Amino acid sequence: MGKKIIVVGASSGIGKAIAEQELNAGSSVVLLARREKSLESIAKKGNTSKEKRAFPLVFDVTKFATAEKTFQKAVSILGGVDEVYFASGVMPEISKEEYNTGKDLEMLNVNLLGAVAFLNPVASFFTKQKSGKIIGISSIAGERGRKGNPVYNTSKAGLNTYLEALRNRLSESNVQVTTIKPGFVKTDMTKGLTLPEKGLLKAITAEEAAEKIRVIVANGKDEAFVPGIWALVALIIRNIPNFIFKKLSI
Ligand SMILES: NC(=O)c1ccc[n+]([C@@H]2O[C@H](COP(=O)([O-])OP(=O)(O)OC[C@H]3O[C@@H](n4cnc5c(N)ncnc54)[C@H](OP(=O)(O)O)[C@@H]3O)[C@@H](O)[C@H]2O)c1
Repeated sequence: MGKKIIVVGASSGIGKAIAEQELNAGSSVVLLARREKSLESIAKKGNTSKEKRAFPLVFDVTKFATAEKTFQKAVSILGGVDEVYFASGVMPEISKEEYNTGKDLEMLNVNLLGAVAFLNPVASFFTKQKSGKIIGISSIAGERGRKGNPVYNTSKAGLNTYLEALRNRLSESNVQVTTIKPGFVKTDMTKGLTLPEKGLLKAITAEEAAEKIRVIVANGKDEAFVPGIWALVALIIRNIPNFIFKKLSI
């Protein structure tokens, strides 16, 4: 029997690619996000006339009060749950001297608080079940506070710490918590940006990212960069002293 999987943020990009690959691999998947049409078209491709394994469910992660009910609904649709991916995220463009609290709150609400509101009931459920996997899609951007988008960095650093704490809490209950830190991935989020097309740090497709993420999860890793070369970048940028980092335009 295939796995039972919930993907939050399944309507595009990395979450969509994970959901599609899991459907192809025989899993049953509840697809959560706000864009109903996108979810329905992914589900349509995933469902054959013989069996229904893809279930779209409209959900806004910033409606915190509805998160637990939505999770319970997804579990009852699937008749249980083995893995939960949290891939929802936003990264609005922030110009050099822009301090925009509206955009900043949106990033915190989706990327960090949305994850907390949804994954708390998941953690509680998996603790009782004594099994399960939680996968959070964070970012290389959480490694340091950079000039470009201070609150995107903050939301991902917060998400890293939350996932690490969940991992430590849940390790006694046989529950895996994996933090994924992608580098450049070609998705709707990065559409307007000029991403490297060549070289070691070239941008990869959402499908390539999803393939790597699913292998990392199957291997039971605590955290991993995607692709792996970003681990070296993280090591370097974490070790640049503040007085130099301040002067860099990264
Ligand atoms: N692309 C990159 O280079 C890159 C690099 C590092 C990390 N990441 C992270 O990877 C994750 C996936 O992003 P992506 O690159 O695949 O971008 P994407 O194609 O824009 O996907 C973002 C997903 O988040 C969902 N989402 C946004 N706001 C939501 C809300 N209020 N409620 C529910 N879902 C919401 C979107 O669904 P709806 O709009 O339908 O709600 C969509 O499914 C994000 O956490 C992002 O920060 C991306």
